[in-house]
Amino acid sequence: MSEIGKVEITYPDLEINVVRAKEPIEVPIVESRIATAVASPNFVRHLTFDISGTPLEGKFHAGQSIGVVADGVDENGKPHKVRLYSVCSPSRGEDGHGKLVSTTVKRVIDEHWETQELFTGVCSNFLCSQKVGSLVKVTGPSGKRFILPENPQDYNYLFFGTGTGVAPFRGMIMDLMELNSKNEIVMVFGSPYRTDILYGDYFKSLEKTIDNFHFLTSISRENPRADGTKHYVQYQLLDNRALLEPILQKPNTLIYVCGLKGMETGIYQILAQQGLWDYITVKDDLMQKNPLTWTYEELKAGVKSSDRMHIEVY
Ligand SMILES: Cc1cc2nc3c(=O)[nH]c(=O)nc-3n(C[C@H](O)[C@H](O)[C@H](O)COP(=O)(O)OP(=O)(O)OC[C@H]3O[C@@H](n4cnc5c(N)ncnc54)[C@H](O)[C@@H]3O)c2cc1C
Ligand SMILES: NC(=O)c1ccc[n+]([C@@H]2O[C@H](COP(=O)([O-])OP(=O)(O)OC[C@H]3O[C@@H](n4cnc5c(N)ncnc54)[C@H](OP(=O)(O)O)[C@@H]3O)[C@@H](O)[C@H]2O)c1
Repeated sequence: MSEIGKVEITYPDLEINVVRAKEPIEVPIVESRIATAVASPNFVRHLTFDISGTPLEGKFHAGQSIGVVADGVDENGKPHKVRLYSVCSPSRGEDGHGKLVSTTVKRVIDEHWETQELFTGVCSNFLCSQKVGSLVKVTGPSGKRFILPENPQDYNYLFFGTGTGVAPFRGMIMDLMELNSKNEIVMVFGSPYRTDILYGDYFKSLEKTIDNFHFLTSISRENPRADGTKHYVQYQLLDNRALLEPILQKPNTLIYVCGLKGMETGIYQILAQQGLWDYITVKDDLMQKNPLTWTYEELKAGVKSSDRMHIEVY
C-alpha cells in the first residue's frame, strides 16, 4: 500500500508459483502467429497456451509472467532452466474465462562475440519453433509487483514499453478497456523499425475510437529527431510535452516501464529535467547537477522510482 497526495494506492494480493519450476505442467499451444511485419529483420511471435483444467486456469493476472522450460538438456546434461515471459493477455485470459493465456516472444539470435558462431537463445527459439498442438512445460504465475492497482479505472497511466516489453501493457490496457476507464491512458512504444511495432493495429484501433487513449511510437533507426538523436521512448516527454505534461501533473497518474534493461535511466533524467518529482526520488548531491549530465553510476546510486512509477526491465 502507498499514498499519492491524499489518494491511497492498494494492489491486489495475487497468488504466485501455483505451479513450481521443479514440477512444470504440460499445456498445448493453441495459437502461434508472427507479430512483426513480414519485412522485419526480427522475429516475434504471439503465442497462446490452453491452461484449462490445470491448476493455472484463472491464475494469471495482467503484468505477471509465465515460466517455460524448453525441451532437452543444457551443456551439462541438466534440464533447461525456466525462462520467464510476460503474459500479454488480459487478466480474464484471451477467452474471458482464464483458460487461454498469451505471451509475446522474440527469438534471441545473435553472433557469438568470441567464436563468431551464430548464437540462438534456447527457450525463445524453442517456443517460436513449436507448432500449434505441441505440448510445452510451463510454470507460474510469477511476479506480484508489476500489476495495476485495485480499482484501476481510478488512475491515469503512462506506459513505456520497448520491444516485447509492450506485452504486459497489452493485457493491462485490455483490462482497462473492459472497465470502460475514462481516465487518460498513454501507450508509448519503442522499436528499431516500423516493421517491429507490436500490436500496432490494436492500439491504433483504440486510438481511433477511445478519446482518452493515446498511442505514441518511437522508432529509433529510421528518421532521427531534429537534434540528430534517436527517437527513444523517453523523448516523447519532450516531443509530446503538450499532451503528456498535463497528464503527468495529475495526482492520480502512474507510470509503468517495461523492456530493455537501462531504459529507465533516460526516463528518470527527463522527468527530473522537467521537475516531475512525484515519480522519482533523487539524492541531495545530485539535485545540484543538470540531470542530463548525471552519469550511469550516479543514476544507479542516486535515483529511484517513487510509488507512482513501476519498473520491470531485463
Ligand atoms: C520477468 C521477465 C519477463 C520477460 N518477458 C519476456 C517477454 O515477454 N518476451 C520475451 O521475448 N522475453 C521476455 N523475457 C526474457 C526471457 O525470459 C529470456 O531471457 C529470453 O527469451 C532469452 O532466453 P533464451 O533461452 O532464448 O536465451 P538464452 O539461451 O538464455 O540466452 C540468452 C543469454 O545469452 C547471452 N547472449 C546473448 N547474445 C549472445 C551472443 N551473441 N553470444 C553469447 N551469448 C549471448 C546473454 O547473456 C543472454 O542473457 C523476460 C524476462 C523476465 C525476467
Ligand atoms: N517483464 C519484463 O521484464 C520484460 C517483458 C518483456 C520483455 N522484456 C525485455 O525487454 C527487452 C526487449 O527487447 P527487444 O529486442 O524486444 O526490443 P527491440 O525490439 O530491440 O526494441 C528496443 C528499442 O529500445 C531502444 N533502446 C535502446 N536503448 C535504449 C535506452 N537506453 N532507452 C530507451 N530506448 C532504448 C532500441 O533502440 P536501438 O536498438 O536502435 O538503439 C529499440 O528501438 C528484452 O531484453 C526482454 O528481455 C522484459
